[in-house]
Amino acid sequence: MTGLVVAMDGPSGSGKSSASRGVARALGLRYLDTGAMYRAITWWMLERGVDLADPEAIAARALDPVLSMGTDPDAPSVAVDGADAAVAIRTSEVTAAVSAVSAVPEVRRRLVAEQREIIGLGGIVVEGRDIGTVVTPGAPVKVYLTASADARALRRTAELTGTTVEAQRAAMARRDTLDSTRKTDPLAMAADAVELDTTALNLEEVIAEVLRVIKEKA
Ligand code: DC
Repeated sequence: MTGLVVAMDGPSGSGKSSASRGVARALGLRYLDTGAMYRAITWWMLERGVDLADPEAIAARALDPVLSMGTDPDAPSVAVDGADAAVAIRTSEVTAAVSAVSAVPEVRRRLVAEQREIIGLGGIVVEGRDIGTVVTPGAPVKVYLTASADARALRRTAELTGTTVEAQRAAMARRDTLDSTRKTDPLAMAADAVELDTTALNLEEVIAEVLRVIKEKA
């Protein structure tokens, strides 16, 4: 298992994060949340008043924030310029702005390089949107998680306060469209990925299914 790389892609609310952490824990692997990296850059830019409607302004600052990612599945961490940002990157402001920032090629180039460095010789479960297609196309195990729009909206609503299923469904549809239609590295399923529909599965069942795929492929 030491050199194994498991690529976990899919849209938000598909159950990627919990499943990826659970799989990493079960196999004693590291865990990398690449969405947290895009969120961290977005948070840093919001803090500094960078105009997020202007891709050139985003590109000009793309290399400035210094990220540090912790890969323990029991306590994943994200720090920006040395300060813990785990809570700050989960606000609705960051969520609403992250697709614009992650569409900028300079941001992606930088983060893909850092993700490959962290993956290194493997032994890791990596979750995101373009892991199996761009970041590590040679990964021996690729899983693409999906779920119905209703299931995804329900899960996200249960995690948040002060929102409704209808509002979440609309926000997710907007983010899906932005993430899957951007020019650079859009959300996509790799040709050799195993698609797993999690609509009717609970977390333990999703983890068991991914572990089964790993056993079969790795
Ligand atoms: O997984 P998440 O919802 O925390 O990801 C936040 C955003 O980051 C998502 O809307 C698109 C972007 N993202 C990306 O473009 N590529 C990745 N590998 C991971 C996330």
